[in-house]
Amino acid sequence: MIGLFDHLARPLLSQLEAENAHQLAIKALKLLPRGAAAAEDARLSVRVFGLNFPNPVGMAAGFDKHGEVPDALLRLGFGFVEVGTVTPQPQPGNPRPRLFRLPTDQGVINRLGFNSEGARAVLARLAARAGAGGIVGVNVGANKDSSDRVGDYVSLIETFAPVASYFTLNISSPNTPGLRDLQQGRLFDELLARVVDTRERASRQAGLVPLLIKIAPDVSLSELDDFVGAARRRRVDGMIVGNTTVARPPSLQDRKIAREAGGLSGRPLFALSTRMLAETYVRVEGAFPLVGTGGIDSGRAALAKMRAGASLVQVYSSLVFRGLSLVGEIKAELAKALAGPQALPDLVGMDAAAVTAQPWPRY
Ligand SMILES: Cc1cc2nc3c(=O)[nH]c(=O)nc-3n(C[C@H](O)[C@H](O)[C@H](O)COP(=O)(O)O)c2cc1C
Repeated sequence: MIGLFDHLARPLLSQLEAENAHQLAIKALKLLPRGAAAAEDARLSVRVFGLNFPNPVGMAAGFDKHGEVPDALLRLGFGFVEVGTVTPQPQPGNPRPRLFRLPTDQGVINRLGFNSEGARAVLARLAARAGAGGIVGVNVGANKDSSDRVGDYVSLIETFAPVASYFTLNISSPNTPGLRDLQQGRLFDELLARVVDTRERASRQAGLVPLLIKIAPDVSLSELDDFVGAARRRRVDGMIVGNTTVARPPSLQDRKIAREAGGLSGRPLFALSTRMLAETYVRVEGAFPLVGTGGIDSGRAALAKMRAGASLVQVYSSLVFRGLSLVGEIKAELAKALAGPQALPDLVGMDAAAVTAQPWPRY
């Protein structure tokens, strides 16, 4: 099925303007026949923040922003899907064009700016699939014109608690002016305090919904110290490292497109995001697990993320260039790496100290 999808759709999609191609891919996924996902290699199953993942490879936030195709993505072999970012009220995001490919660099720049159909529409879709199983996280963010951004996160936690497998607080998108201010000391702590409290009140019989924070790869190491300190004090369940970068590494070849404003992702993000992941891992000291995201385009890259500190990984941009068959490739390579008595969790963080000892990547 994936082979057929890639074979028929990708040549067409790569010719289309990037956002039209994305919309067409969502439409095609909606047409995917129902049925069970293929059986998984049992060695790839992992238990992280109290949830049982059939495999550690997730679809990152931003692909299925409105919760339209989580089950199709799970059937295609993802171990989990993160829908969103969802904002409380619908909003259009920035004017188009706002999504650009860097084909030579295998990168993507986006300045979508949280185009969202809003909480009500996304909740209706997720409620309609309740009981379908599979891990579907909800990534939440504030409206651009909100007068109470912390309040937006709180209301979204209340709204989605009955249907979310886990929550991600997105405070790291570079495309909503001022959003990344929430990463600063006092504001961050206030946000966490209110969200943690709300989550407790909204908890279901099944227990607390795990709460993750998604950070930018552009924070300084002293900001990272504060972050990890506050996250540990407030007992969050995990961190995603990380979002797109506003940096433009000097190695970029697609120079004209690289001048577009927005967040850069894909292969050119790999070195920076992996370094930040390792830096986070050594600071967290096992207090909670990490999700590694940024430039994973092969099984080797996924393994490197795990060895740098990720218990789970997420992919997005490389699917644009490599198609959905990449998910199977990554899983096969992870399984191969486990040929001996090693289990996946044994790999996590093995190389973190070594990665932090390397020269800082050039960005
Ligand atoms: C087009 C596009 C839209 C994105 N939208 C979101 C979003 O809404 N919320 C979010 O937390 N991250 C968003 N991201 C960031 C991804 O989830 C991921 O963190 C980042 O792209 C790094 O992974 P990658 O290199 O595999 O793409 C988006 C990325 C892209 C390319």
